[in-house]
Amino acid sequence: MDPASANMHSHLEKVLFDRGQIRDRVAEMGAEITRDYARGGLSIIAVLQGGALFMADLIREIHLPLQLDSISVASYHGGTESSGEVKFQQNYLPDIRDRDVLLLDDILDSGRTLAAVSAKLKVECSPRSIRSAVLLSKRVERDVAVEADYVGFEVGNEFVVGYGLDYQGHYRNLPVVGVLKPSYIQSTE
Ligand code: IMP
Ligand code: MG
Repeated sequence: MDPASANMHSHLEKVLFDRGQIRDRVAEMGAEITRDYARGGLSIIAVLQGGALFMADLIREIHLPLQLDSISVASYHGGTESSGEVKFQQNYLPDIRDRDVLLLDDILDSGRTLAAVSAKLKVECSPRSIRSAVLLSKRVERDVAVEADYVGFEVGNEFVVGYGLDYQGHYRNLPVVGVLKPSYIQSTE
């Protein structure tokens, strides 16, 4: 079946978080971040592509001056299991010297992505601080000891799509987070 065709919603076995739930939770996270970073000097760095929707919604709930940047990495390479390797897809690194950095990603799973990005920025960019916010945190044993400072929702150990999260490049623009029907996941995995 071609996942690009038909109605993406009908490919979902279940919706875990709908538009309203995501909007409300992101607003709460924005309020908390606004309180915590009131001293100023905040730099938001989104991990693309997955973190793009979360970034767009969250920054509009942070009522502080901030700088916005992004970093592009890949770890899944199209399947439903992380490859274990984090590839940086750009040479450019943001100018965050002496700034308070908040890394944003769609989901925390094995921990490899956040750990790798945060380590690289720490070593190469000399920020004042680095913390992280994720929309979703999977309840799994991490490969790397890392937790996010702000978590939207916890999810079980299942593969989810929507709101930035993809399966083979599809479903990122689905406005809800859900679990795909098994028939839409290639059986070769
Ligand atoms: P980690 O490096 O294993 O923590 O995984 C983080 C990255 O893997 C995220 O930025 C996502 O791009 C991707 N990822 C992890 N779990 C899922 C999932 O359930 N659906 C889609 N992408 C996922
Ligand atoms: Mg990602």
